[in-house]
Amino acid sequence: ATVTVVDHPLVQHKLTVMRDRDCSTKGFRQLLNEIGMLLAYEVTRDLPLEPVSIETPVARMEAQRIQGKKLVLAPILRAGVGFLDGMLSLVPSARVAHVGIYRDPETLEAVEYYFKAPSDLADRTVLVLDPMLATANSAVSAIGQLKKRGARDLRFVCLLAAPEGIARLQSAHPDVPIWTAAIDSHLNDHGYIVPGLGDAGDRMYG
Ligand code: PRP
Repeated sequence: ATVTVVDHPLVQHKLTVMRDRDCSTKGFRQLLNEIGMLLAYEVTRDLPLEPVSIETPVARMEAQRIQGKKLVLAPILRAGVGFLDGMLSLVPSARVAHVGIYRDPETLEAVEYYFKAPSDLADRTVLVLDPMLATANSAVSAIGQLKKRGARDLRFVCLLAAPEGIARLQSAHPDVPIWTAAIDSHLNDHGYIVPGLGDAGDRMYG
């Protein structure tokens, strides 16, 4: 599946402000929502349309609307929630699946602690949200859980990706395309993205 780097100037500018260690909690949270909006615009660019007949105040016309059921946004807790409000402001009718996962600080393995999703995942496009794709353990686990519950059409959206994480996600779930604002250099010994922006969850929530 494809990897799309969203290199829109607004996204790149906002990301630069967020990377700075002096960016405040308030600023970080706001910028993540703003970037969420811009990424939602890009990741929905190719959604299929279907014809619909409507009546304007002036005449009947054949117009277009998005085909199929509403999207599902699936933030990986906690940091993925940072994208949620921004994306919901563009797709206000989307459903939401919450996937609770933390990364064990020693082993870097994904630890699952919560899962609640709409029952009809099989019929919907699911956008899996997490600002950071580091080892990809979290993303691989979240997508695995969503697939187990029926999801078949998934897209992964992040802010920063490490090359290691992209390779891992693509080999574990080759059917899931990736959107990211940047691909950084590498992972350090603690599994942090370098140069990255630190721990997104901590920077947002403390
Ligand atoms: C961080 C981050 C991602 C994950 C990425 O979560 O928010 O979810 O690690 O790493 P990976 O690709 O190596 O799995 P963390 O465990 O810090 O939880 P939090 O979001 O609740 O702070």
